[in-house]
Amino acid sequence: MNKFFLLVLLSLLIAAHGVAGNMLCDNIGILEELQSMDIEEEEENEVELSEIPSWNSERGGKVLVNVDSFGAVGNGESDDTQAFRKAWDVACSTPKSVFLVPQGRRYLVNATRFKGPCADKLIIQIDGTIIAPDEPKNWDPNLPRIWLDFSKLDKAVFQGAGVIDGSGSKWWAASCKKNKSNPCRGAPTALTIDSSSAIRVKGLTIQNSQQMNFVISRCDSVRINAVKVSAPGDSPNTDGIHISESTNVVLQNCKIGTGDDCISIVNASSNIKMKRIYCGPGHGISIGSLGKDNSTGIVTKVILDTAVIRETTNGLRIKTWQGGSGYVRGVRFQNVQMDNVSNPIIIDQFYCDSPTTCENQPSAVKISEVMYQNISGTTISAKAIKFDCSDSVPCSNLVLSNVDLEKEDGTVEAYCHSAQGFGYGVVHPSADCLNSDDKRAEIAEPITEDIRHTEL
Ligand SMILES: *[C@@H]1O[C@H](CO)[C@@H](O)[C@H](O)[C@H]1NC(C)=O
Ligand SMILES: *[C@@H]1O[C@H](CO)[C@@H](O)[C@H](O)[C@H]1NC(C)=O
Ligand SMILES: *[C@@H]1O[C@H](CO)[C@@H](O)[C@H](O)[C@H]1NC(C)=O
Ligand SMILES: *[C@@H]1O[C@H](CO)[C@@H](O)[C@H](O)[C@H]1NC(C)=O
Ligand SMILES: *[C@@H]1O[C@H](CO)[C@@H](O)[C@H](O)[C@H]1NC(C)=O
Ligand SMILES: *[C@@H]1O[C@H](CO)[C@@H](O)[C@H](O)[C@H]1NC(C)=O
Repeated sequence: MNKFFLLVLLSLLIAAHGVAGNMLCDNIGILEELQSMDIEEEEENEVELSEIPSWNSERGGKVLVNVDSFGAVGNGESDDTQAFRKAWDVACSTPKSVFLVPQGRRYLVNATRFKGPCADKLIIQIDGTIIAPDEPKNWDPNLPRIWLDFSKLDKAVFQGAGVIDGSGSKWWAASCKKNKSNPCRGAPTALTIDSSSAIRVKGLTIQNSQQMNFVISRCDSVRINAVKVSAPGDSPNTDGIHISESTNVVLQNCKIGTGDDCISIVNASSNIKMKRIYCGPGHGISIGSLGKDNSTGIVTKVILDTAVIRETTNGLRIKTWQGGSGYVRGVRFQNVQMDNVSNPIIIDQFYCDSPTTCENQPSAVKISEVMYQNISGTTISAKAIKFDCSDSVPCSNLVLSNVDLEKEDGTVEAYCHSAQGFGYGVVHPSADCLNSDDKRAEIAEPITEDIRHTEL
């Protein structure tokens, strides 16, 4: 939407509602900022994918490092861990190499750290299936939270039509969420890319992880395209793609269905763009959780553009624990189709995913400048829009534009607690509760002064 249209729209709003002017001036600023916010999808120093040779030739000057040449058996039963580790050492130290997991086989591999830094232009080509041993009791106690962990890479490409399968069913059964007599313990993440930069991931399938499926942590500049993630809808804590302490991450064309968040974006992450995402089943697309155990959480500049969210417990969610600090600022969710989603639009500042109840606390992660634009579809719960914000640190500048959420029986409503913002265009259910905050009236200044501002 262009600026002109925006200004016309707002002028109409002023005329129609006589809203206090200084606020409108602020609103225009916020709107412009939220509307124009963007994140580059392509890098200039792009890794050249067309260089990749066909595998049975020497074209392209690539050095093939096939795990089979290092003794991998690929029958799904023999332990191929050592073969993978040896192949990695060679691939990593050889320029222009391709670490190849060939198609048509199943490689059983234990928890492993694939460490960089590596020589230039490494390609990790996964065409076969990599499976994890399925017995939690035999897991390497020194590596309790990882399975395939890649770190300190620069300009590496992960690609192929292969599958990374965490064989997670016994881990899920042992989870404290499934069996209350068990202690709550963290389980491995299937695929981790950590402390890396200029990474591309294309076409892989990650499934049935022990816990989170795919974690991107402490990375800068990551491009993920056409990745599929799947785990049963009732598998505990199996987040699809989890982004932590990372900047400049673009996810595109991903299909994700799991037992937890399809995508979760947590602390110290900024410039995150998600485009053309299918999510379901699962808990939706989340920013957070943030602020657990009084921690500081900061997430800025997040864009979701074009998504289908189907049969999930949440749609677009921001979740923070009481007692935290920091902020979430600059978020735009747009062009989202919701089908049978329980809580389509939700901010939950009283998040408590703990076996014991969470105590009331005054401090909170501050949430502001969040826009929901062109969001439509069906809701399961009556509260299709729910802004449940901290009493002491209210949410501010929440913007709803062209939101249309319907419930089968026609009863649908918005709920606001300590939340301020505004809507324009169709907003159904009406989000008037964003304007009903008394504090807003107090800070509003005389209208005369404002008209001048609105003409800027
Ligand atoms: C590696 O996996 C094999 C096969 O499941 C298992 O027998 C072995 O104990 C594992 N080793 C470690 C160190 O986890
Ligand atoms: C729950 O876990 C306990 C202890 O690990 C085990 O003895 C019990 O059989 C489990 N229950 C179910 C239903 O799996
Ligand atoms: C949040 O990120 C910052 C910056 O990376 C880090 O120093 C801090 O420890 C992180 N907080 C939590 C709770 O992980
Ligand atoms: C968080 O802070 C509150 C209030 O100061 C305190 O009561 C609580 O024990 C703290 N929690 C943790 C996990 O540190
Ligand atoms: C609104 O979002 C839907 C997807 O849910 C998309 O098909 C449509 O083109 C969007 N409308 C506009 C005006 O961008
Ligand atoms: C939503 O749920 C209703 C009732 O269960 C079902 O009839 C409908 O097909 C569902 N819609 C979608 C898009 O899944």
